[in-house]
Amino acid sequence: NQIDWKIEEAELGSFTHFMEKEIFEQPQALENAMRGRFSDDESTAKFGGLNLDAREWRQIDRIVFCGCGTAWHACLVAEYLIERYARIPVEVEYASEFRYRNAPLDKNALFFVVSQSGETIDTLEALREAQRKGFRVLGITNGVGATIARESDGGVYQHSGPEIGVASTKAFTAQLLISGMLSLYLGRMRDLSFGDGREMVQAFKSVPGLVSQILDQADKIKAIAERYADHQDFLFLGRQSMFPIALEGALKLKEISYIHAEGYPAAEMKHGPIALISEQCPSVVLSPHGDTLQKVLSNIAETRARKGRVIAITSAGKDFPETAADDIIRIPSAHSCVMPILATIPLQLLAYHIACKRGCDVDKPRNLAKSVTVE
Ligand code: G6P
Repeated sequence: NQIDWKIEEAELGSFTHFMEKEIFEQPQALENAMRGRFSDDESTAKFGGLNLDAREWRQIDRIVFCGCGTAWHACLVAEYLIERYARIPVEVEYASEFRYRNAPLDKNALFFVVSQSGETIDTLEALREAQRKGFRVLGITNGVGATIARESDGGVYQHSGPEIGVASTKAFTAQLLISGMLSLYLGRMRDLSFGDGREMVQAFKSVPGLVSQILDQADKIKAIAERYADHQDFLFLGRQSMFPIALEGALKLKEISYIHAEGYPAAEMKHGPIALISEQCPSVVLSPHGDTLQKVLSNIAETRARKGRVIAITSAGKDFPETAADDIIRIPSAHSCVMPILATIPLQLLAYHIACKRGCDVDKPRNLAKSVTVE
């Protein structure tokens, strides 16, 4: 009605859509997710509501993460970060599948459910099923006082503020940050040194500023997006922690622009998706500095040899030549624990501007709901 509309308009300020506003709110949302969550010596993270003591944490020998949609992608990043920094085996389940799978689980397994709204029924039922089996379940949620927050045995609030755009943006990057901080917390209880811990804390604290630097390139990213907006198919490629970000980039594009997009591990491309590559199917390739950069550059060359256009997102300096891709978006180089967050920002802006160019209803895409409360 009239009054609601006026309130919404006022809240939008100078932005055209809530999704755009929420993309630009990320430096603040990430700041909020960290506030008060580092130890005084800045060598580890601390969380008020996990409700496990150090001895209980030591007994955990497996962690299962469950979520849906974007939250499931955050779970995949959590798997990578926790296995890398804390060396605890992690499994990721679609919440909707976990419930009916009856997976054999060790008695020392711990569950995390991840949900922006805290109300997604599939995730809530996965939580209830794990609890029925006697497992402790912790939640990472944004919705304060939401059902998942109330029913879990402890957890972490994201403090992202209300997310109105149906496509999740600031809530996702906060989930990535909290996952990284958890990997630090658990790592410091195991093999991660004091010095390594301090480096990670510094990296997390630098994230809001680095995200702002990427947001400063919004006009450049918009111009790139508009050049690609007519395509009907896209591939998103990345390796290791960039693979879930590729999935998320593809999901964002599907959700708001109705373009068919697939995320794939970059090296898997040659085992099938390469058949899709043509002038009509561009690829967005996540290729930051790191061990696999040279391999990803070869994948890009294979793509371009088949006339597939490539938008590359990289933090590599001269290791990523200007001529290696059709369009290059450069993001800052940072500790690997925060690279998934930084790489997400250009993908959000690409999806947003492609959808706008196509005249789509960005905040209320067809067939989607912000929170799905039916199974
Ligand atoms: C819906 C939304 C997605 C979201 C998913 C999980 O499908 O359209 O954007 O990622 O639910 O939502 P949750 O609130 O549990 O994170």
